[in-house]
Amino acid sequence: WRGWLAPLSPARYAMAYLLDAVEPHPAVTFLAEQNGFSRLNPQPAGALTVVEKAKQVGRWLEMPAPTIEQLAPAWLPTQLHVPENTEPSAHHLRCIAAFQIRPPTWIRIERGAQNQVSAALARHAIPAYPYPQVAGAIRLQGSPDLERLSAEVPFEIQDLASQCVGWMCAPAPGEHWWDVCAGAGGKSLHLTDLMENQGTILATDVRSGSLGVLRKRAQGRGGNMIACRVWDGTRDPAPGRCFDGVLIDAPCSGIGTWARNPDARWRTTEHDIAQRRIIQEQLLLAGADKVRPGGRLVYAVCTLTEAETQAVITGFLGTRSDFQLEPTPHPLTGRATLGQVWIWPWEADSNGMFIARMKRAS
Ligand SMILES: C[S@@+](CC[C@H](N)C(=O)[O-])C[C@H]1O[C@@H](n2cnc3c(N)ncnc32)[C@H](O)[C@@H]1O
Repeated sequence: WRGWLAPLSPARYAMAYLLDAVEPHPAVTFLAEQNGFSRLNPQPAGALTVVEKAKQVGRWLEMPAPTIEQLAPAWLPTQLHVPENTEPSAHHLRCIAAFQIRPPTWIRIERGAQNQVSAALARHAIPAYPYPQVAGAIRLQGSPDLERLSAEVPFEIQDLASQCVGWMCAPAPGEHWWDVCAGAGGKSLHLTDLMENQGTILATDVRSGSLGVLRKRAQGRGGNMIACRVWDGTRDPAPGRCFDGVLIDAPCSGIGTWARNPDARWRTTEHDIAQRRIIQEQLLLAGADKVRPGGRLVYAVCTLTEAETQAVITGFLGTRSDFQLEPTPHPLTGRATLGQVWIWPWEADSNGMFIARMKRAS
């Protein structure tokens, strides 16, 4: 909220209201009241479209309705990847409209626990909707208390787009994988489940704190398969060893998560995008060296810029002729792809994501 609240103008409050899909953030309400903007009285806005919300703000402030473009930084259209056969300005507006709607909570049910978890969800009267094409993915309605449920049955809170990354890795039982940017381990845990708890995963990250969280989460859930190691990208984390698969879930500008983190759009700069790209390219090269001949390399970012997605992959493939894209079905639709998959936020009510799957020559 720092970016929103710094210039304390009525228009900024109005924009903050616009960003809240359901109700205004308490901090904004408080500051609005403190500053005498009583016309910005909190009203549920979740049912309104972004255009209707803009009109409402115009009425509150007795000014012309803000434009949709004002809801995101001015540099966004120059950085967004635009899909083929799509009109760039229409795509830009569609992205901004999607950033105004918080996606639902998604959970991933562990292999073999479908009936058990479904029964528990029903017992707790939590409305739940499976995503038919992605096994184990369930969309929950509202903001249910999942703490009690997690003590009873095995599942993980994981956005649908993140689940798609695991499915594109498609590791086989008994394989050896390196999760280069493991963080708190959402993807590592998914990989263990897909591998039926057979094989190994080296989970590395620069942040030891998040690896600590991963260790805790892994207890009793394929935990003995996962070796956690702090890694800053400089040394070889596994000398003399190659992997069947390497996943690089790289740090990125995170534009695909702007609907969950509405303030992030005002804290993200074009400089961040350029900086992240340098790290992404370094991590991709480091990961590639550790893929065995014939093995798989998966690159994923939860962002929608050209620079951090297709440009990274095109640059990488231009220098590494031993890798090529590996055709794969789109995890949400089953439609054939050449190995690069976009998940747009409006397709299935999830974060946005870019995933590329590559194979090293045998
Ligand atoms: C997108 S997050 C990973 C999320 C994680 N895979 C999950 O599923 O929960 C990116 C991660 O990259 C890590 N990171 C940033 N720079 C890094 C570097 N140079 N080497 C390794 N990891 C790095 C960050 O600490 C962060 O945890």
